[in-house]
Amino acid sequence: MTAMSANAKIVVMTGAGISAESGLGTFRDAGGVWTQHDFRDVATPEGFARDPARVHDFYNQRRANAARAKPNAAHHALARLATGHGGEVVIVTQNVDGLHEAAGVTPIHMHGRLAGATCAACHATWEAPEVMNPADPCPACGAAATRPDVVWFGETPKHMDEIARHLTGADLFAVIGTSGTVWPAAGFAEIAAGHGAHVVELNLAPTPLTEIADEAIHGPATETVPAWVARLLA
Ligand code: OAD
Repeated sequence: MTAMSANAKIVVMTGAGISAESGLGTFRDAGGVWTQHDFRDVATPEGFARDPARVHDFYNQRRANAARAKPNAAHHALARLATGHGGEVVIVTQNVDGLHEAAGVTPIHMHGRLAGATCAACHATWEAPEVMNPADPCPACGAAATRPDVVWFGETPKHMDEIARHLTGADLFAVIGTSGTVWPAAGFAEIAAGHGAHVVELNLAPTPLTEIADEAIHGPATETVPAWVARLLA
């Protein structure tokens, strides 16, 4: 790894792999969420229009699972990086769980949060109850159009301008536990590299991002991330 100055800007993007060892399933690995559910039914505006109860059931279950889960050694290591590094540390996550927050970090949630709710009619947002139902009225406008505040296929991820600023200003960009197959997140490593960042991939196995990375560290996140953070803080 190249020497990193004490005030280097570090941008980290996480995916489902960082939460796998907390017991939350990934999407595309064996037994993953998209091997059990058709994403068109539960993660598109069209699926929600067809059958809102089915979509709410899916997210109610995921919200309950996420509420039971605890952050693991990788989430805690990123929290140590955020407080211990001399320069700016930004965590961008594709995950809708709250495990970074539970470890003490506020990430940029580009795919939204299971803990959030929004109104498809007026776009008000609020904290989701444990269980959401199609008949729930929006607290702002009263419409029975409430939905999880998560980004579905065909929708634009959140905070993209802010993320672009961070990517182009990063000295070090690390991508942790993502298959690198969902856009626009899959393009972040190339953008950061194009603006001079040193790119590191930490994943269980090689991905399409491995060849863009200057450095690839393969293994379970609970082992690789704490070791990598210890190196950065040393
Ligand atoms: P994926 O399920 O596509 O990929 C998970 C990645 O984590 C794979 O590359 C695994 O090798 C890796 N992995 C699994 N266990 C790991 C472990 N213990 N340690 C390290 N790595 C591990 O999940 P994402 O890339 O996050 O979007 O998926 C991206 C988006 O696709 C999600 O945010 C979601 C989904 O559709 C929406 O729903 C909009």
